[in-house]
Amino acid sequence: MLDDADQIEWCNDVAEQHFGLSARRDVRQRITHLIRRPEFVHYLTRQRFDEPLAMRDMGEHKQGVISVQVLPYGDNRKLVITQDITKLENTEAMRRDFVANVSHELKTPLTVLTGFLETVRDLPVSEEDRRRYVDMMLVQSVRMQSIVEDLLALAKLESDAQPPGQELVPVREMVDHLVHDAEALSQERHHIAAEIDPTVGLRGTETELMSALGNLVSNAVRYTPADGRITIRLGWDDGHAVFSVTDTGLGIAPEHIPRLTERFYRVDRSRSRDTGGTGLGLAIVKHVVSRHHAELRVSSEVGRGSVFRVIFPPERSVREAPGPRVLRAALPDARAGR
Ligand SMILES: Nc1ncnc2c1ncn2[C@@H]1O[C@H](COP(=O)(O)OP(=O)(O)OP(=O)(O)O)[C@@H](O)[C@H]1O
Ligand SMILES: [Mg+2]
Repeated sequence: MLDDADQIEWCNDVAEQHFGLSARRDVRQRITHLIRRPEFVHYLTRQRFDEPLAMRDMGEHKQGVISVQVLPYGDNRKLVITQDITKLENTEAMRRDFVANVSHELKTPLTVLTGFLETVRDLPVSEEDRRRYVDMMLVQSVRMQSIVEDLLALAKLESDAQPPGQELVPVREMVDHLVHDAEALSQERHHIAAEIDPTVGLRGTETELMSALGNLVSNAVRYTPADGRITIRLGWDDGHAVFSVTDTGLGIAPEHIPRLTERFYRVDRSRSRDTGGTGLGLAIVKHVVSRHHAELRVSSEVGRGSVFRVIFPPERSVREAPGPRVLRAALPDARAGR
């Protein structure tokens, strides 16, 4: 609260923190002597308070963004309200980045598509060329389709506040299916092995797990050069069921690892794009993993390979009696084959 000469009459703890003031020491001081930032002085003296003022990096006391709003009252006195809007600003920045990224990702295939369409419309082309162009256009539209499908899958995961179910997942069949997908994608270019502890069971949502673990497997195949080795494991670690995929592929430099699960983040854009990647796979993995209260751990060395581990919490890890199981029909997998 400021008096008619903009001297502090009173302030609460939060205002002290935001402005780096001390209620005891600074009472009766003119606020512009204490907060000398030009934008603040200007805001206060201009006497137009319909919009709040956003102040960034308030020095040693406070990082981030503070919103300042003045409400004049009484005899030329003022109530100054501050609010920490750092989180809000970050969310807003993330939203902007996201829209920019989506647009950018769709723009590239669209530009290619439009280019070919114009060529086919305006130039006489041989039957052979026409075929080639149509094939290339098809590649681009399939690419746009995968981007949109993955975005929808992500949106669905995000909007689903319900935790995944507690049903027993037929893990062995699921892993068999994953190995089969890996073999199909690899087309015998890699050595693929599975090490499955038959006593491991999981509780969760089968379709979500299938799509998440499937992405780890398809990444291993796609980012491992021919002749590499890929091992899919399911086992126990101290009461936790652990699913892991180990490859002897390209590996990932340490500075990239924390960013892998960001949407559209790719270490090598052109390589990922060549193999049909959208950069959304690990973002989906992260969501599914956290919905299951599991943890994703990545260790990797450039040129030697990577290990992606999903560690399930004890309450979703089930010890099963080993033995034959009833075979189930093949699972649907929207992301298979990529
Ligand atoms: N096993 C791996 N070895 C090396 N790099 C990897 C591996 N897995 C992921 N990466 C890197 O992480 C990036 C992000 O992976 P992510 O699965 O999110 O996207 P993507 O595989 O490019 O596309 P998508 O999964 O959507 O088809 C990849 O582009 C690649 O650079
Ligand atoms: Mg992927």
